[in-house]
Amino acid sequence: MPALAELFLLDKEIIFLNHGSFGACPQPIFDEYLRWQRELERQPVRFLGRDYDALLDAARARLAAFLHAPPAELLFVPNATIGLNTVARSLMLGWLKPGDEILTSDQEYGALNRTWAFVCQHTGARYLERPMPLPVTTPAAWVEHFWQGVTERTRIIFLSHITSPTALIFPVAEICRRARAAGILTIIDGAHVPGQLPLDLTALGADVYSGNCHKWMCTPKGSAFLHVRQEHHAWIAPLVISHGWLPEGTFISQNQWQGTRDVAAFLTVPAALDFMAAHDWDSRRDECQALARYAWQRITAVTELEPLSPASQTWFGQMLALPLPPCDLPALKTRLYDDFRIEIPLTTTPDGRPLVRVSCQVYNTRTDIDALADALHSIFSA
Ligand SMILES: Cc1ncc(COP(=O)(O)O)c(C=O)c1O
Repeated sequence: MPALAELFLLDKEIIFLNHGSFGACPQPIFDEYLRWQRELERQPVRFLGRDYDALLDAARARLAAFLHAPPAELLFVPNATIGLNTVARSLMLGWLKPGDEILTSDQEYGALNRTWAFVCQHTGARYLERPMPLPVTTPAAWVEHFWQGVTERTRIIFLSHITSPTALIFPVAEICRRARAAGILTIIDGAHVPGQLPLDLTALGADVYSGNCHKWMCTPKGSAFLHVRQEHHAWIAPLVISHGWLPEGTFISQNQWQGTRDVAAFLTVPAALDFMAAHDWDSRRDECQALARYAWQRITAVTELEPLSPASQTWFGQMLALPLPPCDLPALKTRLYDDFRIEIPLTTTPDGRPLVRVSCQVYNTRTDIDALADALHSIFSA
């Protein structure tokens, strides 16, 4: 077991191949989280009443530098769902008109599909889930196929940067570039990206981008961000209207206070960044990506099914989804957990073919992947 694995609070009896769902937090970062909670309780009035903005601004500045974004465009939110809901709900306030089209893929996160269904129900806009061919071939072919879904009514493009069910990296930078030229708003769901892929929000050029720190940056749960480019601040309405909703307010001042709440997870971001730097995270990430490619080989050898993508960093980072033979997914999940102590999510392609989604974080080794491959072999060869 790598020394770093010892630092994680995970149950050592479980083969944990599901970092992607809710992340996992190492002890030093979790200790910092508890320290902030104690600090709040020591003097709640000073913490929440006087120091609140300065504390959050300092943490935001660190995150902004990491993401290459202006701090004034970056807001802490508890999770990507809330970040993206803030924007989606704002678009209902006169921005979207009946017949407007929101173009997306058929591999988006379920909760966000529901968010857009709600928005469309109330605005008369249309949410178009473009079927994207699997397996993927080249980013250029992917972009061309997606772009054929754009019409003169397309006002928004909504895409995951890394998808949930298929764990693919979508070539969103090129889509954002084309969309900007065409006057289409881009909203990118980067829930899985910070910490997993290098991220330069300014270079990427999305109008809106929301990402989680509590997944691949290993902060405690409830730490995420919403990035909105300056030119869109005027139409963003806070999801929660509170003291900051003043005519002269900024994107930050209008949204940063949402009533009394625990912001310790936000304030832990600098400690997470320090942790990543202290442990040479770029090298660790390379090792995890190599482990993901090992998983591609091992599991493909067991199933003999065509993978969703080549074993290439172009298409996946530390997380990948691999096809499984036809099976009863809930029964398989129970079997993997009960009989093999493997915690792993099972998903499907848009047309319902079963997938196993493997996450590789610094605490995982080839032994974990071998255990999964052996378990699948014994189940499917029986
Ligand atoms: C692509 C994608 N978007 C959004 C989310 C939602 O993240 P959260 O629950 O932190 O809001 C997830 C969660 O796994 C996801 O995979």
